[in-house]
Amino acid sequence: MISQASIQQIQSRIDIIEIIGSFVKLKKRGTNYLGLCPFHNEKSPSFTVSPAKEIYKCFGCGKSGNSIGFLMEHEKYSYTEALRWLANKYNVELEETETSPEFKIQQQAADSLFIINNFARDFFADKLFHSEEGQDIALSYLKERGFREEILKKFQIGFNPSGRDELATAALASQYNKEYLLKTGLVVQRDDRLADNYRGRIIFPIHNQSGKILGFGARIIKTNDKAPKYINTPENEIYVKSKILYGSYFARMAIDKADECLLVEGYTDVVSLHQAGIENVVASGGTSLTIDQLRLIKKYTNNLTIIYDGDSAGVKAALRGLDLALEENLNVKLVLIPDKEDPDSYVNKIGAEAFIQFVKAEKKDFILFQLNIALQEAGNDSVRKSAIVNQVAETISKISKTENFTQRQDYVKKVSEILRIEESGFNALVNKFIREKISKDENKAFHKVETPVIPAASEMPEEDRDVLALFQKDRIHEEAMVRSLLEFGLKDWAEGQTVATYMFSQMEETELDKMIDNPLLIDIIHTYKKWYEEGLQPTARSFLYHENQEMNSAIIHIMEVNTDISHNWKEHYEGHIATRDDLFKEEVFSTLNYLKLRKIKRLIDENQSELEKATDPEEQLICLQTHQHLKQMEIDLTRQLGTVIYK
Ligand code: GTP
Ligand code: MN
Repeated sequence: MISQASIQQIQSRIDIIEIIGSFVKLKKRGTNYLGLCPFHNEKSPSFTVSPAKEIYKCFGCGKSGNSIGFLMEHEKYSYTEALRWLANKYNVELEETETSPEFKIQQQAADSLFIINNFARDFFADKLFHSEEGQDIALSYLKERGFREEILKKFQIGFNPSGRDELATAALASQYNKEYLLKTGLVVQRDDRLADNYRGRIIFPIHNQSGKILGFGARIIKTNDKAPKYINTPENEIYVKSKILYGSYFARMAIDKADECLLVEGYTDVVSLHQAGIENVVASGGTSLTIDQLRLIKKYTNNLTIIYDGDSAGVKAALRGLDLALEENLNVKLVLIPDKEDPDSYVNKIGAEAFIQFVKAEKKDFILFQLNIALQEAGNDSVRKSAIVNQVAETISKISKTENFTQRQDYVKKVSEILRIEESGFNALVNKFIREKISKDENKAFHKVETPVIPAASEMPEEDRDVLALFQKDRIHEEAMVRSLLEFGLKDWAEGQTVATYMFSQMEETELDKMIDNPLLIDIIHTYKKWYEEGLQPTARSFLYHENQEMNSAIIHIMEVNTDISHNWKEHYEGHIATRDDLFKEEVFSTLNYLKLRKIKRLIDENQSELEKATDPEEQLICLQTHQHLKQMEIDLTRQLGTVIYK
């Protein structure tokens, strides 16, 4: 964990224009900066950065956030990675809290492995291009296959000489630690000495998505029955096979732009397609896709297109990962490359343009593809056929309804057509699997607190929409209260009292903080209070760098509403019109009163139903008195508010 003090230090130095400006070309426009949105394709700029509010927002695609959010979205960093990046940029020494000794050791090991891998990459690249053996054997082989120097350099491809221990000797001479050298898998212990593990092989460095080298794939040059074609880095602190997608570092921008990720099997497929200008491509290494790999893809896009050669074992392996992909809400398509070719050989054969057209034309739906294969295999076997019906129903049930409802219905229709069965019956079967899944998930999520999800109004029956409108109105008022606190909390309310202390006293008196429906807002209020009482001076800005991303986006949402209008007014009518700032007392007052009024309304309702249940006359009397008392409070409050705003 990075300490709060460090985070504040980073926060105080952040310049959002500088940070975003290093990824997006920004132009000053009034008080804001404007550029082409990096998250969607656009011709005229709608990506806005506000240095005053320290947030960005794209009016085209709706993405918004702060500097950290931007780094997380654009660079796909985790929260801590983003902080580290910023700390590095602004020369802030990070203070870590609560790091266990084991964690520190692991961190040190990881750092050492990265350093050795960098050394090895440089060594191998140098040998490929500058040693006689590298040029004569490896480089000429690669060139014969059609790889140009430029692309080899981009992917940092290299060559491990065939001598016994050229790398090992160089590494030891550079003082690298023997234990770590062994861990990288680059060398092995042979007799008493270290020997190179990838002798005579072409080396493909494997980068993570931010460009650090996790390990290597080493390809033999002359195919040999005894030796494996590829040797890979063994699992260690940084090379975790299930999380690796070869090429993700070079592909990430292109995947974002195309909103599609192409998945191939081999390293050479990735490199060849890149050379042909098709850059949104990564490789799985030929094994079935893991959940971590799918999640990595999903950071960039929901559209996954698998391009495998038709007879490869990889297709079957990929099929096994299909359910996982659907659960992650990925849209999976499949393209099969014709006989005896793979993407590398095929793009070399037909050229980039034809390859792109081919992919477009041959893209098949993965679920239907799987169904057709299964049906072919089943032939006339009716037992197997009914197993297939169940299987495909279960697969379809994995498609998330909230994100892809129409897609799921489409499948139900298409599949029942293919299977020649009643659509309604098949739908019922799919629903059965959904119910089973839900009850399983509920068991799992038993202890999890859910934040309420508001369905889209168009999906609701007429009579529920009023309730929804009320709910949204309530939410707006709750947010307004939090906005007042964040915006005006540090201002003076009265002699010796700030707005914050006033608001807290009011909330305590009426137990208002317990009356807020949105748990996230309660969290924000309590966090504010804690910070305030610790002597910090919290503002909306303090929250923008809070680790809880949900809180983070709630704050951005809250602070965005309405404030723009008043800022514009200020610019146009400078001095002639009262701004929110001048009227803050009124705003604080009315937001508090609104919620108080709502609380009284609720108490009246509760009291009413108690009255209905009460049989004892004394009880009834108390209820009636309470009613009158509450009614009077309601009248007073409404009068203070000036208008009846709550029906
Ligand atoms: P080229 O034959 O040079 O075009 O390489 P390729 O990448 O096309 O190889 P292939 O299609 O045979 O295999 C696809 C991927 O599976 C490779 O890129 C490797 O990641 C992996 N792979 C293939 N053979 C082996 C092997 O013998 N051992 C290991 N560990 N992985 C292999
Ligand atoms: Mn190949």
